[in-house]
Amino acid sequence: MALWGRRAFSALRVWGPGGGRKCISNSVSASGSFGSRGSSEKKFSLQDVAELIRTRACQRVVVMVGAGISTPSGIPDFRSPGSGLYSNLLQYNLPYPEAIFELEFFFHNPKPFFTLAKQLYPGNYRPNIIHYFFRLLDDKGLLLRLYTQNIDGLERVSGIPVSKLVEAHGTFASATCTVCRRSFPEKDLWADVMMDKVPCCPVCTGIVKPDIVFFGEPLPERFLLHVLDFPMADLLLILGTSLENQGLNSGPCACQVEPFASLSEAVRGSVPRLLINRDLVGPFAWHPRSRDVVQLGDVVHNVERLVELLGWTEELQDLVQRETGKLDGRDI
Ligand code: OAD
Ligand code: ZN
Repeated sequence: MALWGRRAFSALRVWGPGGGRKCISNSVSASGSFGSRGSSEKKFSLQDVAELIRTRACQRVVVMVGAGISTPSGIPDFRSPGSGLYSNLLQYNLPYPEAIFELEFFFHNPKPFFTLAKQLYPGNYRPNIIHYFFRLLDDKGLLLRLYTQNIDGLERVSGIPVSKLVEAHGTFASATCTVCRRSFPEKDLWADVMMDKVPCCPVCTGIVKPDIVFFGEPLPERFLLHVLDFPMADLLLILGTSLENQGLNSGPCACQVEPFASLSEAVRGSVPRLLINRDLVGPFAWHPRSRDVVQLGDVVHNVERLVELLGWTEELQDLVQRETGKLDGRDI
């Protein structure tokens, strides 16, 4: 089912919602700005975005992120050829890479998922400057919500309040028995995972699964916040994601929602959208808007540029230093 979902949606991406194949190859200018309709219209730029934030003309910033913001912390993303997790799952002996997040395979053999879980478990890695940039946005009262597809928990570790987060693909912070649905204590889950033990329910002996969203499972209820957040947003930042999460939300539940790629279409037409990513993805490729800005290339480099334009460089460095010191103290 998951693969079917993936392929169907990939086709949608290539052909676009209007049905025709979009030519995107010449749309990105040398500077990386993108989306201007016609030569008379001034291109919206990274400077314009910075100015909107700096002057507080935008105060309801919604952020969407994926695995690309955690690669600077040393965590591989999913789809980058060669380095991405899906190209490096040979050791787990999976029938195909995505099986690691499929319930059917998990019930057949939960070991590969727990081996990966041990590697990705929060505590093994630290937030980087991008997480702290979002923290600074929030400290300044400008962050409406951060939607993350990441399960590494680094947004929490950076100190962004949980109320400002939507962990769309779940979290290791809670776990549930797959049979009786009882919740399982986080510290027991951690202990089992670290000891390479498949966690089992003390009541019914069913396998316990961290509340990470597998293909076909509904997204967490908090994801419904998007219905309020996106129409209210006055700026949308998208970083480090291929916007390819299809298949995760095909469960028959009220939480059934549109995938991330379509979510970026849910902000009002006048709202600027900034994509910082190595690749041109999602609606930025197949349905660009006049106030879209695309900064292709390394995510850290581009965030640093934005921070510089904002005049926040020193403040961000101080924050990183302070928070890193705290983590050193906690030996995380
Ligand atoms: P992907 O691996 O699909 O996409 C990561 C994107 O970040 C790619 O476009 C990369 O080119 C880009 N990228 C990586 N490192 C970068 C860097 N240093 N600078 C700039 N760009 C960089 O990861 P996601 O979009 O997060 O599901 O994947 C979405 C979901 O698919 C995941 O949440 C996962 C997976 O199936 C679950 O975990 C359940
Ligand atoms: Zn149970």
